Amino acid sequence: MLKTICYMSDSNQQEAPKNVKDLYAQAKKNNLKNNISGILIYHKGNYLQVLEGHEEDVDKTYERIIKDKRHKNIIKVININTETRIFADYNFGFTVVRSSNEFIELHDYLNWLKNANHKIANKLIIMAENFIRTVG
Ligand SMILES: Cc1cc2nc3c(=O)[nH]c(=O)nc-3n(C[C@H](O)[C@H](O)[C@H](O)COP(=O)(O)O)c2cc1C
Repeated sequence: MLKTICYMSDSNQQEAPKNVKDLYAQAKKNNLKNNISGILIYHKGNYLQVLEGHEEDVDKTYERIIKDKRHKNIIKVININTETRIFADYNFGFTVVRSSNEFIELHDYLNWLKNANHKIANKLIIMAENFIRTVG
C-alpha cells in the first residue's frame, strides 16, 4: 500500500550552509535507498515536505524525521493512503527546492497535474503556494 505524508516545520538551524547541504544530501540518499519520492521545500526558515512510498517506509522515515533536532513545531497536514505517486517521475523522485527557479519549476509541474484533475496535486499546489506566500 502506498502512502503520502506532508508536514510543515520550523528550522532550528542557524547553521552553516554546509550543514544544510549535508541534510539535503542525507535525505536524498536515504530516500533513494528506501524508494521514497517527494519534495523538500525550504523557505525563510521553514520546511514543507512531501514523502510518498510504501506505507512502512514512509512511516519509518517520518518517525526519524520528527525526532530530528534540526527542526521543531512539526505539523502533519496530509496523511493518506494513495494509489499513485505524484513525484516518482519528477527529478528522479526526490527533490530539494531551494531557489525561486526551482519553485517555479515545481509549481509548473503541480499545475500540470492539477489540469489533469489530480486530487492530491490540487491540495498540494494550494499548500505550496500558501507556504511560499505566508511564511517568513
Ligand atoms: C527538515 C528535515 C527533512 C528531512 N528529510 C529526510 C528525508 O526525506 N529522508 C530521510 O531519510 N531523512 C530525512 N531527514 C533526516 C532524518 O531526520 C534523519 O536524520 C536521517 O534519516 C537519519 O539517517 P541515517 O540513519 O542515515 O543517519 C530530514 C531531517 C530534517 C530536519
